[in-house]
Amino acid sequence: MRKRKDVMALAACCFVLVLGLIGLEWFKAEKSIKPYAIVTTFKGDPQRSRAFTWYSNHAQDEAIIQLMEGKTADSWNTDKVITFTGTTTTANGTKRFVHKVEATGLKPGTAYTYRVGSGEDKSWSDAAVFQTASIDQNDFTFINVADSQGVTEQDFELWGATLNKAFAIFPEAAFIVHNGDFTENPKDEQGWTYLFAKAKKWVMQVPLMPVTGNHDEVDGGAEPFISHFNVPDNGADGSIAGTTYSYDYGSVHFTMLNSESNIKEQTKWLKQDLESTDKPWTIVAVHQGPYGGNTYKKVKGWTELFDEFGVDLVLQGHNHEYSRSYPLRGGEIVGNGEDTVFNLEGTVYVVTNAAGQKFNEKKDDQFYHKVHFQNDKQMFAGIRINGDTLTFQAYDVDGNKLDEFMLKHETI
Ligand SMILES: [Fe+2]
Repeated sequence: MRKRKDVMALAACCFVLVLGLIGLEWFKAEKSIKPYAIVTTFKGDPQRSRAFTWYSNHAQDEAIIQLMEGKTADSWNTDKVITFTGTTTTANGTKRFVHKVEATGLKPGTAYTYRVGSGEDKSWSDAAVFQTASIDQNDFTFINVADSQGVTEQDFELWGATLNKAFAIFPEAAFIVHNGDFTENPKDEQGWTYLFAKAKKWVMQVPLMPVTGNHDEVDGGAEPFISHFNVPDNGADGSIAGTTYSYDYGSVHFTMLNSESNIKEQTKWLKQDLESTDKPWTIVAVHQGPYGGNTYKKVKGWTELFDEFGVDLVLQGHNHEYSRSYPLRGGEIVGNGEDTVFNLEGTVYVVTNAAGQKFNEKKDDQFYHKVHFQNDKQMFAGIRINGDTLTFQAYDVDGNKLDEFMLKHETI
């Protein structure tokens, strides 16, 4: 009798175990079909297009985006749905898949709700909303951050909290410029997964425009980094595609340089790029910049072009401390030293500390430093361009404003 009971108990245990294993496999299958690391970027004209990148663990996935006008989607089975397909490639040396799509032919100044997936029922992402740029976008704000550079999930929670505060203070921000060093080790895909997961709420809505850092391109290789972003393919000859590019948003021309390789060839491209823009404002973003916490002489040649073409602002990273230069021209301070720079007297160079867990000891003050400190707190900047005025405001993650200056394209 007892033996029979034991057998029945064992059978019940086995049954539960088998059910559990089936359930686990079902859960894993459900999970593996879901897109992750979803991020939107500008690729073509921000008024009429928007690009997207995401990862999946699902073999032979299609890359599909569905979108419709408006801020909600009651149903995805209507003739209002517009569908775009893109490319799927295997992520370098992993069992993951990279999906990239660009939605084109969109209406300016219009909100769209979208989702991405493979087309299979359970493959769709959550829905999110993005807004195309208006025709005359002469008043807008963007957020600047640098060096999120984490390893663990907790590290990237700090980056997520930084963006949460940035959008609490600048809810109108139209996009983010990230000055490089997204993760500590670009080959550790888990780091990228955390990076996008902790910022999901923001980077599914507003473009995250990347700059290449020395932790993004390592020993001449940048494949994991560039696999995560779908950016303009208009960069310098000899640069890894996706590590140098430029784009226009409203009245501003943005040039994204790569301080990690191909410096000489980029100088030629930079000249052509700055020569060819007719936008009233020019902002350059680079990881290791010429006038940060200290000077970086390798890219000093670029400053002559910034002078020649009247670049307004250079956003930098790498130093993990805060620094802001006086307006500089020809390597010298110009202007009256006040916090308003009139009529392109010189270029201002900024490093907005770091948006992650790592802070460096503050370097020695240099002659060009107007503001220079280490507060050991994640920071971000909100930059508003409104007609002839650019206003730069830097905050820490607690919401304290720590620096502010203005650039004006008008004489006193
Ligand atoms: Fe860094």
